[in-house]
Parts: sequence; C-alpha cells; structure tokens
Amino acid sequence: MSEKVARIKGFADIFEPEAALYTQMEGTGRKVFSRYGYRELRTPVLEFTHLFRRGIGEETDVVQKEMFTFEDVKGRSMSLRPEATAGVLRAAIEAGEAREGQIARFFTMGPMFRHERPQKGRMRQFHQINCECLGTDSPYADADIICMLLDFLRGLEIARLELNINSLGCSQCRPEYHEVLQEFMAGLDPETLCGNCRRRLAANPLRLLDCKEESCRAAMSDVPHLLDHVCPACAEHFAKVRRLLELNNIEYRIDHHLVRGLDYYCRTTFEVASGEIGAQMAVAGGGRYDGLVRRLGGDDVAGVGFACGMERLALLMAAPAKGRPDFYLAVLDDNLRDQAFLLCQTLRRADLAGEMAFQQASPKSQMRQAARSGARWCVILGPDEAARGEAGVKNMESGSQESVALDRLANFLSGSV
Ligand code: HAM
Repeated sequence: MSEKVARIKGFADIFEPEAALYTQMEGTGRKVFSRYGYRELRTPVLEFTHLFRRGIGEETDVVQKEMFTFEDVKGRSMSLRPEATAGVLRAAIEAGEAREGQIARFFTMGPMFRHERPQKGRMRQFHQINCECLGTDSPYADADIICMLLDFLRGLEIARLELNINSLGCSQCRPEYHEVLQEFMAGLDPETLCGNCRRRLAANPLRLLDCKEESCRAAMSDVPHLLDHVCPACAEHFAKVRRLLELNNIEYRIDHHLVRGLDYYCRTTFEVASGEIGAQMAVAGGGRYDGLVRRLGGDDVAGVGFACGMERLALLMAAPAKGRPDFYLAVLDDNLRDQAFLLCQTLRRADLAGEMAFQQASPKSQMRQAARSGARWCVILGPDEAARGEAGVKNMESGSQESVALDRLANFLSGSV
C-alpha cells in the first residue's frame, strides 16, 4: 500500500455537518447583502505580491510574516490572498467601478491564506465573507454597513456579540497623534514591551495600542486617546456614525485601543467579538479606508468595508438540522437493476432524494443499508411486484409496508396521494 498523503497543517477539510454551516452563512449573506444593494464579486485567490504590499502595508504582520508567497515560472512574485479588500479594489479599479460619487457595493466569499500559528478559530486557510462599499466618505455609509453586518449576524442567530468602534483619524490628524504617541513612548521602559512592540515602536507605533501581551497592555493602559486628537472633521464624522447607530438602537462600546492589523484604515474602525471564543478573537472586523483606491492606482475614491471569519462564526452557530433522504431503493433481483436505475432517476426528477443498491445483496442487508441511509421510505423492487408494475414501499418509521403502482410512486413518496 502507498503511503498516505497528509493534509497541510492549518488547512482543514470541512465535511458535513460543518460544511452545511458554511452554506447557511453564504445563503444568509446573499439574502441580507442584496437587500442593501451589494453585488457578488469573485476575485482570484492569487495576485501579484505587490498588490498586498501596497494595499495592506509593508509594516503589517500580514505582509511581513504571514503571506504564502512564491515565484511563478517567470520569476514573478505571487501571493495567495491574505484578505479580500486589496483584490476587490484592484478588480473595481480595473473594471472602472471605483469612482467617487458613484457608489459601488460588492460582497466576496471564499478562502484566504495567512501563515499564522493554527489554533481553534485561527487557520492558515480560512474563509471570509467580505463586503466593500466604494465611492463615498459619508458617515451614512459607515453606519449602513455596520447595520448590515449586524443584520447578517442576527440572521445566523448568533447571540451575545459585542460591537466595538473607534476612529483612527485621517492623514491630516494622525501624524499629530503619532507625535503624542512617540512622546508617551519615550517615557516607557522598552524592556516592559514584547519583542514585537519594541520593533514596532519606530515603524508602526499605533499597533502598540492593540498588542494583546499582558505587559504591553499594562504599559499602554494610560496612553492618550487617539479620539482626543482627531481633527474637527474626523470628530464630526465619528459623532455622526455614533448618532446613526444610536438612532438604530445599536449598542456599541468605544474601544480606544482598537486600531486593527492592516494599515489602510482611517476614521471609523470596528470589530465584533464574542466572549464565547475568547476576547482576542474577533468574528468580524472592518472600517473606512479612504485613500486606498488611490494608493492602488485608482482615483481618489473613499471606501468602507468589513470581513467576517467563517471558521469563527461556525464555532458560534447551532448545529444544523440533518437532512433525510426520501427513499432507498432496494433491488431484489440483479435483472431488475437497470429498471431500478431508471426508476431512481424518475424519482429524483420529481424532487425526491435517494439512492439505490448498486450491488447484489440479501434483502436483509439491503434493509440495513436503507436504515443506515436515514431514508423515510424503502422502495423494494422485486420480480413479482415489478411484473405487476408495482413496488413494495416500506415506511421506515412505522415498519408498515404496501404495494404502490410505479407510475404513482413519486406522488406517493412526496405525500401528494
Ligand atoms: P481582518 O481583521 O484581518 O480584516 O480579518 C477579518 C476577520 O477574518 C477576523 O475578524 C477573523 O474573524 C477572520 N480571520 C482573520 N484571520 C484569520 C485566521 N487566521 N483564521 C480564521 N479567521 C481569521 C480583514 O481581513 C479586512 N480585509 C476586513 C475589511 C474589509 N476591512 C475593510 N474591508
């Protein structure tokens, strides 16, 4: 026997019943997002690496450590997408759909790839449901997309979720806050910070705010709040987003340490977390990214979006009800198998689900097989009944059995006679 081929660490095979949860998420997403005017967009999983470098930011963990990057046969650097936003914007720019003042809304679902340490709810291939709204910097767009995210999560009947929001300011006011931050950091003992944060001190000090290491959290506990340093336009924008959430009776918490791990954000940022899978695990995250379309070679177009992690949502969803097939077709004589095959097709075309015995086996073993399949009915095709144009039909729950004419079988099984 040949050696078994193992799957790659951090990559999962998703069987039923879990796979049904993914189908449910996709279905609920399609329904909710289309109510808000979002259209589906499927982008490639492979892109030129520089799209992500430019889009997500050189200083991010995702770009520095987590991408699956390799050269193609022509020596060009390619990466598996670690997130969807950069690819969606590239596609929108190429298709002429990214224009200021002309709103374009897209949702994308599919696998993303990050070389992180795998654990429950953190995979190297994971799946996101991602939504982007391009073409406006209106705070109504921010509130609209947050409402949509919460409608989606409600549709999945996930309870006890917490919405955290913050504003990261804009390219005008953030540099000022960086100075405030540098001043605060100068008073810190670098030894109290984790290695990651010591490295980020110069290049990306904002990320120190959301480091999960206990020592860094303690060191940063009384850091000046970014919100106290945003410019009047950003403050007004954020106040409007908050008012719109309140108008909709949406509960939220302002998290002054919420800065997000990707560099493209400005103004509103948000995350949805569930205590049930650990405080460090957001089920969804997003925010505004005005300036990103321009950085990717498009016009100066504003945008806001979010992504949900499907693995994490699956952990919070109730097990789906198991579907049952309608019939199992037992064949008592090998000579009847072709007729049974046709009968099976007829029943399926009548919207009934089921399978037939492909191989000769004793009636008892076929009955066992019928029970194992979970079918409601066992249809038994034997020589005597077939000669009369009938089949035996056994109710697998009550055990009762009767003969039914073959041309009435589909109606009988579907309960319409
Ligand atoms: P993100 O926060 O990096 O944002 O990821 C969004 C969500 O994807 C997370 O909240 C989490 O649920 C899930 N996720 C991330 N990494 C993993 C992983 N290794 N395993 C399982 N789930 C994971 C983004 O990706 C942005 N592109 C969101 C966005 C869209 N912002 C604006 N538009």
